[in-house]
Amino acid sequence: NAPHFGLIGLGTMGGALALNIAEHGYPIAVFNRTPAVTDSFMQEAGPLAARLVPTKTLAELVAAITPPRAIILMVPAGPVVDQQVKALAPLLQKGDLIIDAGNANYTDTERRVAEAKDQPYDFMGIGVSGGEDGARHGPSIMAGGTVAQWDRVGEMLQAISAKYEGEACAALMGPGGAGHFVKMVHNGIEYADMEMIAETYALMRDGMGFDSTGIAETFEAWNKGPLASYLIEISGKVARAVDPISGGPMLDQILDAAGQKGTGRWTVIEAQKLAVAIPVIEAAVVARNLSAQVKARKHGAEVFGPQPQPLPKGALDTTVLEQALIAGKILCYAQGFDMLSRAAAEFSWDLPMPTIAKIWRAGCIIRSAMLNDMATALEKTPGENLIFAAPFTAMVKQNEAALRQVVIAATAAGIAVPALAAGLSWFDSMRTPRGSANMIQAQRDFFGAHGYERLDGKDAPHGPWWTNPQG
Ligand code: 6PG
Repeated sequence: NAPHFGLIGLGTMGGALALNIAEHGYPIAVFNRTPAVTDSFMQEAGPLAARLVPTKTLAELVAAITPPRAIILMVPAGPVVDQQVKALAPLLQKGDLIIDAGNANYTDTERRVAEAKDQPYDFMGIGVSGGEDGARHGPSIMAGGTVAQWDRVGEMLQAISAKYEGEACAALMGPGGAGHFVKMVHNGIEYADMEMIAETYALMRDGMGFDSTGIAETFEAWNKGPLASYLIEISGKVARAVDPISGGPMLDQILDAAGQKGTGRWTVIEAQKLAVAIPVIEAAVVARNLSAQVKARKHGAEVFGPQPQPLPKGALDTTVLEQALIAGKILCYAQGFDMLSRAAAEFSWDLPMPTIAKIWRAGCIIRSAMLNDMATALEKTPGENLIFAAPFTAMVKQNEAALRQVVIAATAAGIAVPALAAGLSWFDSMRTPRGSANMIQAQRDFFGAHGYERLDGKDAPHGPWWTNPQG
């Protein structure tokens, strides 16, 4: 029963993934740079230790795996991946495969795949979502690579993945960096989902005077309706949690400065490169950036007077808030899926759009009830923006007024709701047949003779703004 699989990096995620693989009947050799980590990992592995082969050097690891080998890297994204690949390369032979399962930037994955072309090993990048619990008991896996590579490792990846009504949440997204690209957009959406939930929390706490119990009860109730999702569920749990030190709500003791490792930012950068509008995700990234400016925000309150103010009595209720969040969520996913289909066209990837929604239904951080309907919509109306696909058109119509009401009330009270507001603005733009960009075109032509198109289709080289026709 010699392993074909190996795994490097026994941190929280790597260790959990190795145990998951072993549990599904695949023997696996493991290695960690610090041998003590491997020792304690083996001690805690229990009966699964029988399928794990601990190794102390990279050479030992490679020797412990029967060719053709597939070695999973679970090391920090960035230069560490390159260092590992460089150290492994001389030990590998033709047919061996390195799988980067970290949160790599997809451009790095593209580069590494290209570099592997002159090397004895093959390289593939897979996006893995679901945190520690997902890695241990079933993540969502967005694989990038060739069909031949997928044929080699797809069965194992599907076996260890989460299941939605028996369907594996692991699939091949496309070649090269496609898997990591889809994971990046997943994370962008994750940022936006989290931000919009945080905005409704702010409205409840600062605008409506809810205590932590009221907030927890609201999220718990929402989790039984159309918003049912992992992130709403954990938000309820977070709101219920008690601080062991003060005995008060845990949330009230946590500094309001969000961390970020960069995947949300990458999504925004790539969207700009593709000229795709994903304003809800952008707003979520900006909100994290702003949250980190703790001192500046305190100074702002001193200079301009503190915001926010409580909402007038009866301005909002939790039903309106829930509807606004439903609308915001649909608008955000419409943007995220639009970005994916635009990337597919740009990079000549045949991204399997309905499958993406399907493998996000379980295992990953953004898993939600709504993703099942999104998968159906993307299947029935391929290439259509989600807001124009049934049943989402109807849901947007039903909930748009609530989103507007929430944004208006929040704005009046000075409660910042950047992601919800960005969603509404995008929606308003998306249904404005006569926008204001004619002004921009005229300005561009005025100062730079950039030209414009006329509505009546007649020839309109330039002007007539200049007294001198040459400008
Ligand atoms: C997942 C998550 C995960 C991510 C963390 C932290 O899908 O399991 O997206 O990959 O690393 O959520 O991300 P930030 O530190 O950027 O918030």
